[in-house]
Amino acid sequence: MHVRRKLVAGNWKMNGNLAQLAELHAIAEAARAAGGVDVAVCPPFTLIAPAVTRAGGAIVIGAQDCHAEESGAHTGNVSAAMIKEAGGRMAIVGHSERRAEQQESDVAVRGKAVAALRHGFVTIVCVGESALDRAAGSHVDVVERQLEGSLPDSWEEGELVLAYEPIWAIGTGNVATPADIGEMHAAIRRHLVGRFGDSGQRTRILYGGSVKADNAAEIFAVADVDGALVGGASLTADLFVPIIEAAARS
Ligand code: 13P
Repeated sequence: MHVRRKLVAGNWKMNGNLAQLAELHAIAEAARAAGGVDVAVCPPFTLIAPAVTRAGGAIVIGAQDCHAEESGAHTGNVSAAMIKEAGGRMAIVGHSERRAEQQESDVAVRGKAVAALRHGFVTIVCVGESALDRAAGSHVDVVERQLEGSLPDSWEEGELVLAYEPIWAIGTGNVATPADIGEMHAAIRRHLVGRFGDSGQRTRILYGGSVKADNAAEIFAVADVDGALVGGASLTADLFVPIIEAAARS
């Protein structure tokens, strides 16, 4: 039986400013008090360096994306090396908002994951089906294809983490049921173990999509849920800290 430490990661998306980094103080306090739980915040690129200073080591600070290349003619992009120099130690790749808005393919996501892992990052690869996929009953197949295409075949550094984020649950308040979450996390676990053996057992699988203080405990109780990727409720300590505490109690 593998014991996987819970990871509660906040994705600030395109939100936040220098003033809002004051929230990190209480979040860091909660992370220290909780013990046994890893806490991370991924603010916009511009806030990574000051966030690292504010977090003071209690919170892992990361990015919401990274480019597959180290440097070069890629206007507007940011490499894993640059994130690392700013103090970032994590990257989220393949978020559904980037898959949709930047037309990121599974192959592109895999390239980003490889780069993030090469820099030793905790690398959160996101997968998740649309409402249409679910209505058609193809949700597990869709996620399986994303896993096949988006995950690297091997890596030496860093830690791979999966995040299951059903698109219809993101920012909608429509959280997936424990049964839905359990079904998908079990399918993801089967894929990981089938492909990576023992290390697939150790890989953390987060749930994301309208995680809040009032549903976190129920979600963390589902088998193979090893934490949460939290959007809206990670923006303030008032909203985020109870989720960290729920993870610590689970
Ligand atoms: P919400 O928690 O706002 O639904 O966002 C989830 C998400 O997309 C995290 O990456």
